[in-house]
Amino acid sequence: MVEAARIEIEGAKDEKALQDARVKYLGKKGHLTQELKALSALPTEERRERGAALNRVKGELEALFTAREEALNASALAERLSAERLDATLPGFDFPAGGLHVITRIIDELSDIFHGLGYAVIEGQEVEDEQHNFDALNIPAHHPARDMWDTFWLNDGRLLRTHTSPMQVRYMQAHEPPVRIVVPGKTFRFEQTDATHESMFHQLEGLVVGPRITMADLKGTIAHMARALFGPRARVRFQPTFFPFVEPGAEFSIWWENPRTGEGRWLELGGCGMVHPAVYRAVCDLRGDDAYSGMTGFAFGFGVERLAIIKYGVPDIRYFYQNDLRVLRQFRGALE
Ligand code: FA5
Repeated sequence: MVEAARIEIEGAKDEKALQDARVKYLGKKGHLTQELKALSALPTEERRERGAALNRVKGELEALFTAREEALNASALAERLSAERLDATLPGFDFPAGGLHVITRIIDELSDIFHGLGYAVIEGQEVEDEQHNFDALNIPAHHPARDMWDTFWLNDGRLLRTHTSPMQVRYMQAHEPPVRIVVPGKTFRFEQTDATHESMFHQLEGLVVGPRITMADLKGTIAHMARALFGPRARVRFQPTFFPFVEPGAEFSIWWENPRTGEGRWLELGGCGMVHPAVYRAVCDLRGDDAYSGMTGFAFGFGVERLAIIKYGVPDIRYFYQNDLRVLRQFRGALE
């Protein structure tokens, strides 16, 4: 009986099946109860032995019932807990991913283009002295060209640089020729702002100095940059102009065709030319040697925002610095 009961008890799938088994064996009319009742009919000696054996069986069955009951309770609890599981974690904070400003991206792209040509990318200082911003670039105090570059002055006579060209002088002062650098950075002018003029903007300066550098090298370099930026159909145009620190000097424009409309136009980007002998002389004076005398070289400098305006069709330069995310977000990934 114990074996049959054990199989039934351990196989009971739920509370109800277990209760049925309990009634079957231990209930009023259960198997064990019946057998206990039958004891009274036995002779005394036999009754004692049989009674003791049945009590052991009763104890065993009760233990089996208790164990099964506990097991059923435990699994019911586990089931309930998993159904009622409480998520005690808070959702995390949403950190919006930032992006690089479109001007930073263009500077990175330009730096890559020139790095590929073997140029070093150098950064310069934004606060300059008159000597580097003007005098050493062949713009003496009385020169009318100074009017073109009116700027913000500090009380100690220094100024916010009006162009990146002072880095030509600073770099040659501190390094031996040959030189092949580009200098991206902020520049400042005391300017009436409009759609194409800001009082703070960025330029990228280029300087190549060595023996036998020619104007053809300059034009080839600018053409390469234009094609890298705008594709193989881009063309460049040089128009003679005057900058005191180059001779001959030119203004260069890029022919750009809108891929959507097919419409093209000349984009006037910046200035360039062959480095003026007066600049080498000023560098030699500052260095106190003649490392740069008899050198040849070219320089160029242009406005990065102007490039962005044409590349992305931005109607007003001031949009770049109003920090309106609706504008800036449009350029996320623009260069990828
Ligand atoms: C210069 O600044 C010369 N240093 C460039 C140069 C370098 C010539 C080396 C020769 C050799 P310019 O003043 O023209 O030149 O300015 C160059 C470019 O900067 C302009 O063509 C324009 O693209 C940009 N730029 C000038 N002023 C502003 C302004 N207020 N806002 C935005 N971009 C400007």
